[in-house]
Amino acid sequence: MAQNYSSEIDYEDEKRIRNRIEELRRGRKIITFVSGKGGVGKSNLAVNTAIALSQLGVRTLVADADFGLADVDLLIGLKSRFSLRHYLSGEKKMFELAQLGFDGVRFISGGNGNSRMLRITVDETERIMNGLRRIQLPIDIIIIDGQAGATDNLMKVLQLSDEAVVVTVPEPPAVTDSYSLIRNAQNRKVMPPFQVIINRVTDTADAASVANAFLRLVGKDVDEASLSYIPEDSAVRRAVRRSEPCLIAEPDSDFSRAVRQAARRLIGIPENPEPEDVVDGVRTKIRKFFGNKL
Ligand SMILES: Nc1ncnc2c1ncn2[C@@H]1O[C@H](COP(=O)(O)OP(=O)(O)O)[C@@H](O)[C@H]1O
Ligand SMILES: [Mg+2]
Repeated sequence: MAQNYSSEIDYEDEKRIRNRIEELRRGRKIITFVSGKGGVGKSNLAVNTAIALSQLGVRTLVADADFGLADVDLLIGLKSRFSLRHYLSGEKKMFELAQLGFDGVRFISGGNGNSRMLRITVDETERIMNGLRRIQLPIDIIIIDGQAGATDNLMKVLQLSDEAVVVTVPEPPAVTDSYSLIRNAQNRKVMPPFQVIINRVTDTADAASVANAFLRLVGKDVDEASLSYIPEDSAVRRAVRRSEPCLIAEPDSDFSRAVRQAARRLIGIPENPEPEDVVDGVRTKIRKFFGNKL
């Protein structure tokens, strides 16, 4: 059958995505993004990963659980009249909070700048998690933008999550804080299976050695399935200023390409067979660095 190479690849890729989505539809999954400290890009990665998943056809919701410091509204450019605060007060049902955002992704606000949400208790956190788990909307994956640092609320969120994504930057203070966050959660026996994202990578060999040491410390195998690298990219700051997620504002940027690949990895779909330059470039260099260990 005369079929050219690239259309054959596309067909196979679409089939893989379709099969994976069918699996995901059988059970809702909560994936929480965490970081040892603030400012490492956790919210941007949570939002843009959610959009990338939605673009693949996964029915995705982002919930902002960085209570009090919730800023996902700003990143998405939506003004929310209702937030998780209205769920806790009983004024709204969980599904009534969800707004439709870019490319079909749904979004629930954490109520930013609200002092009530700064004082949220662990029991209230548990109510929110249960409400999200049972939300009456057709949702396959719930991405939670969690609090930075090992707070009691975050520990409860992790305990009630199916998976986590630990976001760090390659600098030692951020890596150390991520390590203590994971250790803390592991000691309390609340750490779900997790992947690691190293964000703001400029020096790939450096990031790879950081990642390698880090994964070993937290007792994970150094394998491709559990690790993503996201490059430093000025497109992120430009997008944040415009209150538009980078994936929408600059879909061809290095950041957006890398996030799309990370999103695929998150749900276990192999890398896009049509190589996306940056990630592929990064990976090739990393492979060289590690020899055949990766
Ligand atoms: N890959 C990146 N490249 C360049 N700048 C980034 C990148 N990721 C994040 N940033 C910058 O870091 C800032 C903080 O990101 P944010 O997602 O709000 O962090 P957090 O939620 O961890 O506090 C962003 O406004 C952006 O300017
Ligand atoms: Mg944030």
